[in-house]
Amino acid sequence: MTVDLCGIELAHPVINGSGTFDVIAARRVFGAAVDENFPFAAFVSKTITLEPRLGNPPPRLFETPAGLINSIGLPNRGVAGYLEHDLPGLATLPVPLITNVMGSNADEVGQLFEALEPRGEIAAIELNVSCPNVKTGLDIGADPAELSKLLAVVRGKTSKPLIVKLTPNTANVALVASAAEASGADAVSLINTLRAFAADPRRPGKAWLGGGTGGQSGPAIRSVALAQTSAVAAAIELPIIAMGGIATAAHGRQFLDAGALIVAVGTESFRDPIAGAKVAAGLLS
Ligand SMILES: Cc1cc2nc3c(=O)[nH]c(=O)nc-3n(C[C@H](O)[C@H](O)[C@H](O)COP(=O)(O)O)c2cc1C
Repeated sequence: MTVDLCGIELAHPVINGSGTFDVIAARRVFGAAVDENFPFAAFVSKTITLEPRLGNPPPRLFETPAGLINSIGLPNRGVAGYLEHDLPGLATLPVPLITNVMGSNADEVGQLFEALEPRGEIAAIELNVSCPNVKTGLDIGADPAELSKLLAVVRGKTSKPLIVKLTPNTANVALVASAAEASGADAVSLINTLRAFAADPRRPGKAWLGGGTGGQSGPAIRSVALAQTSAVAAAIELPIIAMGGIATAAHGRQFLDAGALIVAVGTESFRDPIAGAKVAAGLLS
């Protein structure tokens, strides 16, 4: 059941959701066993930004009855730190590497693409467009016109396959997906987390999370993710990487049936680090 993702051959159709599987920490704890039984057919890095980020103040996680609200805030070393410290280790993974990046404007995204371009270890770029536009406060990827403008400037700065990771926090995700397709994306991925608020049980009206609002993931969002995957599959021809609450092969199958080429396991990997392998085994059987 090999899969061709924009010319990258994958052994099966299951990868990880960005930011939900820390392979560097897993290798520290489990050593070579991680590579020997690698659960995913490609590895997607957490989001990398141009400059280093500390992330949001704690608390950063809130468990809900059917998932998780996170407000991690994209802590990372910045692209220079990623290339120097993380890439050498990630390049030795037994699967292709997809580097996820985010910038708050076309200039930042362009610089990120240019920094990654010469690195042959990186098979593809995933562009996370769930970044607030400083002027409107809306995610850049919430507005088809804004996304088209961004991609018009940056698309030419990389020859690598470009996966646009759509935001679900938009009025019509199919219109945004169509804009990505028309502006040179090679694939789309969805869904990212849904904007959510966790009330502090001890301080009425106050936020539990240090970052204020957060993003809901896990089983609670699977039905939304399925609806958005179907809508996007009906609107575009590009390959779709679908995620959102996938915990079993049966869930994965629902997303493939809805039009996805590949599925990603996210929050479930926190509960069961080999969930990805189980989903893949179930889909292959
Ligand atoms: C703790 C946590 C961290 C995440 N970090 C990122 C990230 O850095 N970049 C990104 O594009 N998505 C990030 N996501 C979103 C996931 O990749 C995925 O799109 C989302 O969680 C839906 O899938 P799931 O319900 O299977 O987790 C994160 C999600 C979680 C729960």
